[in-house]
Amino acid sequence: MAKSWATLGVDLHLEPAGPGLRRGLTDALRDAVRTGRLAPGTRLPSSRSLAADLGIARNTVADAYADLVAEGWLTARQGSGTRVAERRVVPSAGTVRRPRERGRPEYDLRPGFPDLAAFPRTEWLRAARRALTSAPYEALGYGDPHGRPELRTALAGYLSRVRGVHADPERILVCGGISHGLRILGAVLRARGVGTVAVESYGLRAHWKILHGAGLRTAPLPFDELGTDPGQLVEGWGGVSRSGEGNCGSATPPAERPRAVLLTPAHQFPMGSPLHRDRRAAVVDWARRTGGLVLEDDYDGEFRYDRQPVGALQGLDPDRVVYLGTASKSLAPGLRLGWMVLPPTLVEEAAAAKGGIDTCGALDQLTLAEFLTSGAYDRHVRAARLRYRRRRDALVAALAERAPQVRATGIAAGLHAVLRLPPGTERSVVQAAHWQGLALDGLTRYRHPDALADPLDALVVGYGTPPDHGWSGALDALCATLP
Ligand SMILES: Cc1ncc(COP(=O)(O)O)c(C=O)c1O
Repeated sequence: MAKSWATLGVDLHLEPAGPGLRRGLTDALRDAVRTGRLAPGTRLPSSRSLAADLGIARNTVADAYADLVAEGWLTARQGSGTRVAERRVVPSAGTVRRPRERGRPEYDLRPGFPDLAAFPRTEWLRAARRALTSAPYEALGYGDPHGRPELRTALAGYLSRVRGVHADPERILVCGGISHGLRILGAVLRARGVGTVAVESYGLRAHWKILHGAGLRTAPLPFDELGTDPGQLVEGWGGVSRSGEGNCGSATPPAERPRAVLLTPAHQFPMGSPLHRDRRAAVVDWARRTGGLVLEDDYDGEFRYDRQPVGALQGLDPDRVVYLGTASKSLAPGLRLGWMVLPPTLVEEAAAAKGGIDTCGALDQLTLAEFLTSGAYDRHVRAARLRYRRRRDALVAALAERAPQVRATGIAAGLHAVLRLPPGTERSVVQAAHWQGLALDGLTRYRHPDALADPLDALVVGYGTPPDHGWSGALDALCATLP
């Protein structure tokens, strides 16, 4: 039976008259549906009776109903009246409005996180117990800034076995994640007189900011169908910055030839392709010829699904490449544990830039060392790889069935995919998703402000964050959002 207005339970703050009346009614009803106060399937009063209840013109109600039917919140069928739509729906781009409240999203598909619910608590506790039981007294004092020797030894073995890194413990510096590593390297480079670091056209703004914070400029390399193109670096620097916007608001373009380059060679973040093999060789060759330095961000190198992982670039020339790794994707970002494998000439400068004492907790370092040497890390990564691979497969299958017009790229590895969108639609899709309680990132936020190529419309969809039981709901919400 249709509800009368009195029993509908919808709070209305309508303007007394004028064009605001229809909009106010539409907003109030939409809000009631979105927040669940009007449950799916609820039959609404007829426009005639609602108009009479509210003392407004029937046309105003009919128009508000029609707007909401067009947006997909309501359905109208001959004989069954106007009802709240059964499915989560997405308004068309033109009708997107800001959400009223800024709560936690129901689903979070932003990239950058592993499945935190799958953190191996029991195994970690076991490793922590063993580590603490066998820790020497000295481990509880102020530590050496290089990091615990147990962890550096364990990492050297793991990284050379799994990532092809040339990793002597003496070259390893433990840090609080890759971002901390970049802060240290930024200080070292600046102190050595470097002014500009080449970066990728797509990447993490936070990392560019860290380099800017150290007084360095960032200059984006072109990006084409083969991925990041280091040709400019290799063949001759032509100047890159149009606006300087990417460089802390400075208006002066960076004329200086970069003497370092920050890359994500195994899995370009966020576009997803590995650095083309000719380009890998060319970058290393550039560094050798010019005395340049390559900063290799290997944030998720363990997660490759269709083939063997792409080995680290650092293996090609350990004296010209700094390898940066992290526990943020394989375990959890909250651990704040990362590592750098440095050319010998940089080790002491980097340790000094980190500070006089170790700023990374000794017990967590010892626990990670134990986790690595006991084989628990390998087991955890294997299980996680399988889980993410299944999620990726479910994403690809759902898109093929429910949004075949949307192409997913960068899916061979990692914890995220890039979904290409029709030109001009990214912003409205992200807004509409946000409004539906689905947190999504558009590709634009990862584009360097000075990048020269035309912007692409796309979503960067992380599939690490939702716990397993939330994944199919998150997929439904995503597919409902896609144009
Ligand atoms: C490209 C890239 N590098 C590195 C990281 C990890 O940074 P950190 O080790 O500081 O947590 C991330 C995490 O999102 C990332 O996306």
